[in-house]
This record gives sequence, structure tokens and C-alpha cells, in this order.
Amino acid sequence: MGDPKKIFVLTGAGVSAESGLGTFRDRGGIWARFDPMRLATPEAYAADPDTVLDFYDHRRRGVVAAEPNAAHVALVRAETRLAARGGHLFLCTQNVDDLHERAGSRTVVHMHGELLKARCTACGAVTPWRDDLNRTSACPACGTVGRMRPDVVWFGEMPMQLDTIEDALAAADLFVAVGTSGAVYPAAGYVRQARALNIPTCEINLEPSDNAEAFDDARYGPASTALPRFLADLGL
Ligand code: APR
Repeated sequence: MGDPKKIFVLTGAGVSAESGLGTFRDRGGIWARFDPMRLATPEAYAADPDTVLDFYDHRRRGVVAAEPNAAHVALVRAETRLAARGGHLFLCTQNVDDLHERAGSRTVVHMHGELLKARCTACGAVTPWRDDLNRTSACPACGTVGRMRPDVVWFGEMPMQLDTIEDALAAADLFVAVGTSGAVYPAAGYVRQARALNIPTCEINLEPSDNAEAFDDARYGPASTALPRFLADLGL
């Protein structure tokens, strides 16, 4: 892996698993217990906003009660050490929790949005999710009632900041995926884009992901130990 200067890190639900937040596709995962088509699509929200808002409020409360784990902390340390070498760690997460930020990561690109933010579907304003957000809530920006939704990306919607992500991927000299099953695009395609650009790739996961064969290197085990070890091997 040499001495990388620009590391692109893609994280998924597995990086927050040891903080007590559920993953989606593991046994007993969120989508094994809840139907994404009834809770994570624009149509579901239009049909039954109360149920959708309750589902995301329940997940939000879980995030608020959770704490970052050693995997989140290792990324903060690596970000700082890489910057000291004149390098840059680009952190792109599929997660909607704020554990990377609470661990101290300074720039986090949330391609699937953020659970702790609400968006008004009337004016588009994004504001912090308040505890009492429900179908009768008024937008703090425009005052419109009943148009507030979680600022997360639902199935069938476009992920966020894709241009920024693609630019960072093209400039990277190492691509690392941590705690993601490689089941959802475009994130699942990034390892192949990296390979096409001759960028070395490594997967850090509890077990081989759907994309395992696309990676040059892999470290299997819990992210809280496998990720710090991997970064330490890079002097980070
Ligand atoms: N350490 C490392 N990896 C882990 C751990 C752990 N402690 N626990 C679970 N994993 C791995 C699992 O083996 C699995 O490969 O994390 C991965 C989690 O995969 P998913 O549950 O599919 O989560 P993710 O890949 O982030 O899902 C992508 O799907 O529904 C959408 O928007 C949702 O962002 C999410 C996207």
C-alpha cells in the first residue's frame, strides 16, 4: 500500500455496529425487521408520513444514545496524521448517524444524508431534527405545516454530493471500504472505479462483502480492531 497521501475511505453500517447501531443486511438487520418499501421511499412517506417519521425518530433516538467506537476514533487520528504529512483523508459515509462527527472527523460526506437533520419538502430548507417533529410540524424556515421529512436519501432517490465524491475518488491513491456489504450503488461501484484508475483497494469488514473479489487487499474482523490495525500499518 506504500505511503499513500490521499486516502478515500468509504464507510457503511458495519463501522457503527460496535456502537450498538443496527446494520441493514446482517442477520436480524434493520431490513430483516422492517420493510424498506414501507419506510424508506418517497411513496411510503406520501402514503403514511406518521409511520415513516416514527421509524426515523426511533432510529434517531438510537443514534443520540450511541457513542463513537474505536473505528471512528482511528479515522480521526488518521485524518490528523495524514494532514501532518501534507496528505488528505476523504471520508465518505453511507451512514446517516453522526458518530464520525462526534468522534472528531472534520469533513464527512454523507452520501445518504443525515438522520439528525430534517428537510422541508416545500422550501427545501434543512434544519436540525427536533424531538417533536411530526406530520403537523411547521418548517422553521418557511412556516409551511406538514411538509417536514428526515434529510436522508430514500430508495429511488439520488444520493448526495456525487460530484464531490467522484472527484475525490479520482484523486485518491488508496481506496478503503469499511463495514459495507457492497449491496447498494453507486457506493458499491466505487471499488471498481478505483481499480480502473489503478488505485490500490482494501476492504475492512467482518466478513467478505458482495464486492470482496474486487479488492486487492482485505482485513476481516470487527472494524474497531481491524481498522486501527490497518491504519497503524500505514503509520496512521
Ligand atoms: N465490523 C466490521 N464490519 C461489520 C461489523 C463490524 N463490527 N458488523 C457488521 N459488519 C459488516 C457486515 O458484514 C456487512 O458486510 O458491515 C456490513 C453492513 O452491510 P449493510 O448492513 O448492507 O450496510 P451498508 O453496506 O452500509 O448498507 C448500504 O443500504 O439500505 C441502505 O441506506 C442504507 O446506507 C445503507 C446502504
